[in-house]
Amino acid sequence: MGTERTLVCRGKEGPVTKIIAIANQKGGVGKTTTTINLGAYLAERKQRVLIVDLDPQGNTSSGLGITGDQLSGDLYDVLLEGTPAAAVARATAVDGLSLLPASPVLAAAEVELVSAKGREFKLREALVDLDYDYVLIDCPPSLGILTLNGLVAAHELIIPVQAEFYALEGLGQLVQTVQRVRKGLNPELGLMGVLVTMHNGRTTLSTQVHEEVKRHFPDTVFHTVIPRNVRLAEAPSFGKPIMHYDRWSRGAKAYKDLAKEVMERSKIKTGTK
Ligand SMILES: Nc1ncnc2c1ncn2[C@@H]1O[C@H](COP(=O)(O)OP(=O)(O)O)[C@@H](O)[C@H]1O
Ligand SMILES: [Mg+2]
Repeated sequence: MGTERTLVCRGKEGPVTKIIAIANQKGGVGKTTTTINLGAYLAERKQRVLIVDLDPQGNTSSGLGITGDQLSGDLYDVLLEGTPAAAVARATAVDGLSLLPASPVLAAAEVELVSAKGREFKLREALVDLDYDYVLIDCPPSLGILTLNGLVAAHELIIPVQAEFYALEGLGQLVQTVQRVRKGLNPELGLMGVLVTMHNGRTTLSTQVHEEVKRHFPDTVFHTVIPRNVRLAEAPSFGKPIMHYDRWSRGAKAYKDLAKEVMERSKIKTGTK
C-alpha cells in the first residue's frame, strides 16, 4: 500500500486536522486500546484530539469513563439525525481529549445507513469544520458501512495486528477494501502504519509474527511495538486511559512512544505538523 500521498485536509485558512482511522475487521486486536491510549498521549503532547467511537459496543466510550446515551446524544444522532458533531462531543478526564460517544443504538445505524443517501460520507461530512489537531476513529470489527464511513472520513489508516497465530489472516480483505475505497470514495486514504500489539517478548511466536508483518508491510510497520501488558487490559474497567491508571507501566511507555511516532509520521507526510 502506497503512503506517498499528501494526506492533509487544508481549510482555506483554518487549522490542519489529521483524521486517522484505526481499523481491522478482526475483533480483539487492540483497536480500542490503541485509540484510547494514542489519543490520551497525543493530548498530553498538547494536541487537541477528538476520538470517534464508531463501534456500537461502545468500548472506547466506557474505557474513557463515558457511556453514550440517547439523552445527551451520541454518534447515531450525528450520522442519522444530522446533529452537529460539536453538539455531541464531550470532554473527557484527559485535558485536550474529547469524545464522540457510541451507544448500542449505533448498531441500528449499520442497517439504517444502507438506504441513506450518501451513506458512505455521513461521518466525513460530520467532521468537516471541526477544530482539532487529530481525530481518531475507532472502527468496529467488521467491514460494514460503519467501517466504510471511517475509511472514507480518514486521511490515514492505522492497522493494529495482534502478535499471535493468524495475525495476518483477513488482512488481505482489509487491504482490498482500502484499495476499493481509494479507487472511488476516498483517493486520499493512506496507510500510516501497521502496529504490532500484545507482543510477548518471551515467545518466539511473537517475534516471528513481528518479522512476518514487517515482510508483508515493509517500511510501514511502526517501530513502536505494544507489549502484552495486563495493566493495559485492566485500565478500561476503571474508565481510565493507561496514563491515569499506571503511567509507569510498560504499556504506558509504549503508547507514549507511539504518540511520538505518529506525530513524526504526520510531519513527514505534511511537512507542516
Ligand atoms: N497490549 C495489551 N496487553 C494486554 N491486553 C490487551 C492489550 N491490548 C488490548 N488488550 C486487551 O485485549 C482485549 C481486546 O482489545 P481491544 O483493544 O478491545 O481490541 P479491539 O478493539 O480490536 O476489539 C481487551 O480486553 C483489551 O483490554
Ligand atoms: Mg474495539
